[in-house]
Amino acid sequence: MATPHIDAEPGDFAPAVLMPGDPRRAQRIAEQLLDRPRLVTDVRGMLGFTGQVDGRPLSVMGSGMGQPSISIYATELFRVFGVERIIRVGTCGGIADGVEVGSTVVALGAHTDSAMNQQRIPGINFSAVASFGLARAAVEAAGPGDRVHVGTVVSRDHFYFTPAGQSEALAAYGVLGVEMETAALYAVAAEFHREALTVLTVSDHLFDHSSDMTAQERETTFQTSLRLAVAAALS
Ligand code: ADE
Repeated sequence: MATPHIDAEPGDFAPAVLMPGDPRRAQRIAEQLLDRPRLVTDVRGMLGFTGQVDGRPLSVMGSGMGQPSISIYATELFRVFGVERIIRVGTCGGIADGVEVGSTVVALGAHTDSAMNQQRIPGINFSAVASFGLARAAVEAAGPGDRVHVGTVVSRDHFYFTPAGQSEALAAYGVLGVEMETAALYAVAAEFHREALTVLTVSDHLFDHSSDMTAQERETTFQTSLRLAVAAALS
């Protein structure tokens, strides 16, 4: 039974879905991680795959960029395809001091400048928080050599515009990084009483551009975040 954005049958998705933003990254993750990956949807080129990891079912699907896009896919996966947990794997720009390029951020919660969650509960500023169980599983999977930060991120709507002083204020509150999807993902999970988590690789730093990553470095350091995300997905 297809939805407007996913052309698959209910049993085609595993209970756990890894969601990178980029559908081609979804394909690379599926080819790297999954035994017998099977393409289950490709509407608008948003590729989704299902296979197995150590005999356990796991799906990988792109979310696209931004909160409207991830909200569409997360809603359809939870509502129609029986998905229980979504783990976003992506990149963020570092904000707080000490959040080094190449390190991993586990997002316990997400601030946002988006209006999407303002509309959810009348009169309320929604708190977009991760599943505690998934966050714990991801953090526990970190090894001694892994650089992992655990705390809040900000999900912004603009990539190329920031109000003057906003990033400095976020840094003063210890916000770890900026990305563009997590606040909406956590709200959709709450709406459907399901679980969600975001695990990010720091690809650049808003106040220190000396060590921004190349595309190749981004892919390599991404492996730590991916390992934590898989541990959470299969926990
Ligand atoms: N993802 C990675 N870097 C980012 C940035 N600087 N802003 C928003 N999203 C990002």
